[in-house]
Amino acid sequence: MKPRHFLTLMDLNAKELKRLLARAKELKAMQKRGKKHTPLAGKTMAMIFEKSSTRTRVSFQVGMAQLGGTSLFLSPRDTHLDRGEPVEDTARVLSRMVDIIVIRANSHAMVERFAAHSQVPVINALTDQDHPCQLLADIQTYLEKRGSIAGKKAAWIGDGNNVCHAWINAARQFNFHLDIAAPKGYEPKAEWIAPCRDHVTLHSDPKQAARGADIVLTDTWASMGQEHEKTERMKNFAGFMVDSALMKLANKQAVFMHCLPAYRGMEVAAEVIDGPQSVVWDEAENRLHAQKALLEFLLTGKKK
Ligand code: CP
Ligand code: NVA
Repeated sequence: MKPRHFLTLMDLNAKELKRLLARAKELKAMQKRGKKHTPLAGKTMAMIFEKSSTRTRVSFQVGMAQLGGTSLFLSPRDTHLDRGEPVEDTARVLSRMVDIIVIRANSHAMVERFAAHSQVPVINALTDQDHPCQLLADIQTYLEKRGSIAGKKAAWIGDGNNVCHAWINAARQFNFHLDIAAPKGYEPKAEWIAPCRDHVTLHSDPKQAARGADIVLTDTWASMGQEHEKTERMKNFAGFMVDSALMKLANKQAVFMHCLPAYRGMEVAAEVIDGPQSVVWDEAENRLHAQKALLEFLLTGKKK
């Protein structure tokens, strides 16, 4: 039987995602009250990271340990991936030895090729195109802070990047509206918007997107792999910083979210990310709880 992968938010249906987030809430509460829960004892998770990470790497490794399993971190530099062993062969071999594989890759296509040849579940831990694990934590955080997200309005201000693509999928899966303001040439890819068209509106003016929003979102203007474009991007993104003037256009109860790492004075003003509407630290912590629910779902089939 083909394993169940999590390469995009669309790999689970809306009902499964809802259940998974309810489970994340339970697992968080259990962890807080010190209750041991080790359903993954004896299981091993391999983690292949082609790019840097603080939150994703630590949350997966700690989460697996809390669930009773073990993990191994594999840098492509220290395996044969960087020496030209085909991705397909690495997938075939690793998946005969471990129970689940987490990959952060430069190219989304690489993760798809890997998954197609893996006997065990593969989780996308960020690619150039998508970051579905981030969205599990983001939606969990909104549910915790404000309740149901259905029918709400989220505003994405800035680069139409991997995290923006994941929010586009989330708008459809969780049934809310996403207003995106991106500078010309930095809009999200049309093929990511197309299946979610009814849930997404594109703007060129950040004010239009932010007006009446329940959530205001942004991310770095230069993602990993785009460092060489940084100077040019800083110029092209002028006027797209989320500052308190922009936050004033959103609803009074609006929350500010950022996947982190953040660059104060660029995509977000310090007064916003360090201010009372910011929920970024809970958002970062929830990476742990949401991914524990994901590991449990993929490895035990336990939905609730
Ligand atoms: N948000 C996020 O994925 O952070 P890391 O790059 O630190 O994993
Ligand atoms: N868009 C950013 C997200 C980092 C978590 C990047 O890809 O670098």
